[in-house]
Amino acid sequence: MVKAIRIHQHGEPEVMQYIDIELPPPAPGEVLVRHTAIGINFSDINVRRGGFYYPEPMKMPLTPGNEAAGVVEAVGEGVDDFKPGDRVGYVGMFGPFYHFTGAYAQKRIVPAGRLVHLPENISDRQAAASMLKGMTAASIIEHMYPPKKGDTILIHAAAAGVSLLLVQWVKHLGANVIGTAGSQAKADVATAHGCDHVILYRETDFVAEVKRLTGAGVHAVYDGVGKDTFVKSMDCVRPFGKLVNYGNASGHVPPIDLLACAAKGSLSVCRPAVSFQISKTEDLRRNCAHFFDLVGRGVIKVEISKTYPLSEAVQAHRDVEAGKATGSLLLIP
Ligand SMILES: NC(=O)c1ccc[n+]([C@@H]2O[C@H](COP(=O)([O-])OP(=O)(O)OC[C@H]3O[C@@H](n4cnc5c(N)ncnc54)[C@H](OP(=O)(O)O)[C@@H]3O)[C@@H](O)[C@H]2O)c1
Repeated sequence: MVKAIRIHQHGEPEVMQYIDIELPPPAPGEVLVRHTAIGINFSDINVRRGGFYYPEPMKMPLTPGNEAAGVVEAVGEGVDDFKPGDRVGYVGMFGPFYHFTGAYAQKRIVPAGRLVHLPENISDRQAAASMLKGMTAASIIEHMYPPKKGDTILIHAAAAGVSLLLVQWVKHLGANVIGTAGSQAKADVATAHGCDHVILYRETDFVAEVKRLTGAGVHAVYDGVGKDTFVKSMDCVRPFGKLVNYGNASGHVPPIDLLACAAKGSLSVCRPAVSFQISKTEDLRRNCAHFFDLVGRGVIKVEISKTYPLSEAVQAHRDVEAGKATGSLLLIP
């Protein structure tokens, strides 16, 4: 028996129950991992709430969570690249994140092809706090709009989980960063991680402020907030720039008229999903190795602002929904 969080229906955080579940031994190609740290991600909130962009009802009951680090306890037949005692991490299974969840548990059976070995200089907590968010940042920076030296990038909710990694990565590549933040305390965190300017976007018109700071607008916007920021952000981008919407923390982005992109100066708009970036094992391992190298060299700092016992997942979700957190949050089994 292992402890796990289970939900039987969508709803408020209280639908999450801390219960005992049974795990079978690992089948061929699978690995039993004892979790030491579990990443909390906004997709966990979406899965719990329901109404994700998933077109069909999710199968119940389910255990939320897409990301964890830990130690191999047993391996199934045919697994030769992992052995008991190895330190490992994983992010997502072989499919959409809202489909194959299950990390909110003391232990989990994971296909060997989803695991990565953790380097010695990366702690379990650093890995669980940053793999999913780091792979998301990588997909934006490498595939959506790679920032060039001297560019200016607008990053919304700059002290949040994904964006705090983006801020540091973009600065490392030599671009300027304008961040937005919901409070002065968050603005201070964003500034400490490299933002050149931070706009308190709940009290200041961020479009006017971006125009004042840049004249022509920014080269790209990285937007994980969605509903409250996306349409206004179209007016922050200079001609031929790019608006990357990667998340919906404030709600779904409304439909847009494609012709509006012409009117805004040949704007490009895109919406990445990180699960595609890492759906192949070799891509996952290569991207993680690159990201861990940046973390290991201190180029990117992984900020873990709070940890919760696994049994307190309800409180953790309440805090995420209240927008209280900066950086990353963890559940500790
Ligand atoms: N496309 C992908 O593959 C992918 C991958 C990872 C994450 N995501 C998405 O990206 C978004 C951000 O993820 P994250 O891990 O960085 O989230 P997070 O750390 O929980 O931060 C979300 C931030 O959004 C801001 N916010 C604005 N309106 C909000 C609201 N109504 N409720 C809660 N927060 C609100 C808050 O910052 P302020 O107080 O500064 O406003 C909050 O701190 C989420 O929608 C997530 O699902 C997408």
